[in-house]
Amino acid sequence: MPAAGAGVRLGGEVPKALRELRGESLLAHAVKRAAAAPSVGLIVVAAPPQLLREVRELLAGVDAEVLVVAGGASRQESVAQALAVVPDGIEIVLVHDAARSLTPPELVESVITAVRAGHGAVIPVLPVVDTIKRVGPSDDVVATVDRSELRAVQTPQGFRREVLVKAHAEAGGEHTDDAGMVERLGLPVHCVPGSESALKITRPVDLIIAEALLAAAGEEIR
Ligand code: CTP
Ligand code: MG
Repeated sequence: MPAAGAGVRLGGEVPKALRELRGESLLAHAVKRAAAAPSVGLIVVAAPPQLLREVRELLAGVDAEVLVVAGGASRQESVAQALAVVPDGIEIVLVHDAARSLTPPELVESVITAVRAGHGAVIPVLPVVDTIKRVGPSDDVVATVDRSELRAVQTPQGFRREVLVKAHAEAGGEHTDDAGMVERLGLPVHCVPGSESALKITRPVDLIIAEALLAAAGEEIR
């Protein structure tokens, strides 16, 4: 679980993972929900290097096996650091943004189920609701993209361990998600339905939306 980002777009005094939603850190929300998926046995958190002690304390109460390691300068590096300490014998690895703090355990489990069913790489996706246009350097529209072919991609992304390890070792360059690295290797990536609750808390408005989701769901969103 990459959680080492600063949260520049969200703003605020502390790194994003430690920002609170209804009295609990975004990171604890994410870890608790991921841990509630029946097939999750271990969560490795890549935390801001200067906050390892705080993060370990914060997660001490969570009912799950949790390892906390120092993250890196990019999301990709943070994932690589976490992947490096996954113990031998674990064959399915999910990569999940701490910033998708309200992701339901059911979505986590459905990604695992799809990997178990034989897909080497699995991503949760939603249809795109906006019209998307390609725009040139002088702000003139170049084309309207056929929306029916587009999907917005979420996490957790699930992998057979060897596929993810190979992707990180060989893909090179900068990627905004892990499946992109698998695609670069020419390997297949399979889509499953995502969840609106798995929104990435990125800008201040997302924190407001997340608050509203928690309020609306009451006991349903844990
Ligand atoms: N992340 C990470 N290590 C980094 C950068 C990002 O582990 N060096 C993590 C974030 O903590 C987050 C996830 O990757 O859980 C998705 O990144 P994003 O939403 O972009 O978070 P930030 O990078 O913190 O936000 P910003 O880009 O606005 O600074
Ligand atoms: Mg970022």
